[in-house]
Amino acid sequence: MPPSPHEDAAAIIQTLMSPAGRADPFPLYAAAHRLGPVLAVTDSVFLVVGYTAVNQVLRNPGFGLPDTAPSRTAAADDHTAGAALRLMERSILRTNPPDHGRMRSLISQVFTPRRVAALQPSVVAAVDTLLDRLAESGADGCTVDFMDRFAFQLPVTVICELLGVPTADRHQFRPLASALTAALELAGDTDGPADTAARELGTYFTPLISERRTAPGDDLVSALVAARDTDDGRLSDDELIANLILLLVAGFETTTDLLGNGLAILLDQPNLAPALRSGRVTTAGFIEEVLRYESPVQVTTRVARADGLVTEGVPVPYGSDVILLLGAANRDPARYPRPDRFDPARTGSKPLSFGAGPHICIGNNLARLEASLAFPRLLDRFPGISADPDRNPTRRDRLVLRGYQTLSIRVEAAT
Ligand code: HEM
Repeated sequence: MPPSPHEDAAAIIQTLMSPAGRADPFPLYAAAHRLGPVLAVTDSVFLVVGYTAVNQVLRNPGFGLPDTAPSRTAAADDHTAGAALRLMERSILRTNPPDHGRMRSLISQVFTPRRVAALQPSVVAAVDTLLDRLAESGADGCTVDFMDRFAFQLPVTVICELLGVPTADRHQFRPLASALTAALELAGDTDGPADTAARELGTYFTPLISERRTAPGDDLVSALVAARDTDDGRLSDDELIANLILLLVAGFETTTDLLGNGLAILLDQPNLAPALRSGRVTTAGFIEEVLRYESPVQVTTRVARADGLVTEGVPVPYGSDVILLLGAANRDPARYPRPDRFDPARTGSKPLSFGAGPHICIGNNLARLEASLAFPRLLDRFPGISADPDRNPTRRDRLVLRGYQTLSIRVEAAT
């Protein structure tokens, strides 16, 4: 007997969560598209893969985040299992109206396009300093790890500057962020290193908040502390810590992956770098296509919080869990002709890599700014940049956050 649609969808999600599925989810996305845009895994779990369907769910206020029990425990003091998830649940990323709107307007007020645009000179300076260091480490044909020496360093430097977090502390953040975001995986780490990382980050921010309260600066920590203090109840202490941690972690983890995924594609397709250098391919077109083709965030989730929801003709009962495959939506053949082809000349691409609707990424301009300043300078500086023939890139073993752990390169043409 052929498998039922439920069994097909369940097999897809199960394989996606296996090491092989995480390493290469794209054939599974293609299989899912053949079954339909919205697939029932059970009567109350749905897998949404079609571009239109994912876009609709993200924009429909009937779909939201699970409700959480109110808790007064500050993240820094929370020693119980599940601390990492509870921390994220107090941040803007995982809250529903009206809390979401309250926090979003506070954060948007301090995270303005003007503040982001004003960062351009310091992003350029950070890129150039990092390229100088890459040149030094890569002299005489030495190989360097692009992830460690550039893709991580640039966004962490920029977000630390924006938040007003001492950049000298940034080396601590890569392992902590990585441990924390493991809790976002579908079968996530809910009571191990993620919880320890949540506590350590909470402990990190607590004295910084007191410091900025006494001596405010022109930075986001000071601005959010002021928002917390000026109008009681606008932002609780827990929310302040949760959102600062979110901004720090979201500010560099995903952008690190965007830079790494983009460079890996450039190294893999040798005709691209000359096309970018000559202007036949635009930097903006290249970045949009990297976002579509290898979205740094592949998955997000929602729950059905209203009765009578129907997505692309499929009823989604109240209380259902909804898994949104952003990475699959970005490769929907109904939206993108030849979706598995990397084509930076696509027009009107609008990938869903930053989400859509009320939770659309607050940092998308910043991520685009960093990538658009980094790639041209990198290609200019190192005309002979190439993959290390002796070391294959290694991927992070993640489904939700797609990127490289290591990407070893030569920045000097071999002699
Ligand atoms: C939300 C992706 C960079 C801060 C999101 C969401 C996605 C996303 C998909 C929505 C999640 C959902 O709807 O469930 C990305 C990608 C990035 C990036 C792919 C880089 C390539 C950044 C940066 C920052 C940032 C640089 C901050 C400096 C946030 C915040 C939210 C968010 C605060 C929550 C917004 C809300 O819930 O209202 N991001 N992000 N992100 N992102 Fe980003």
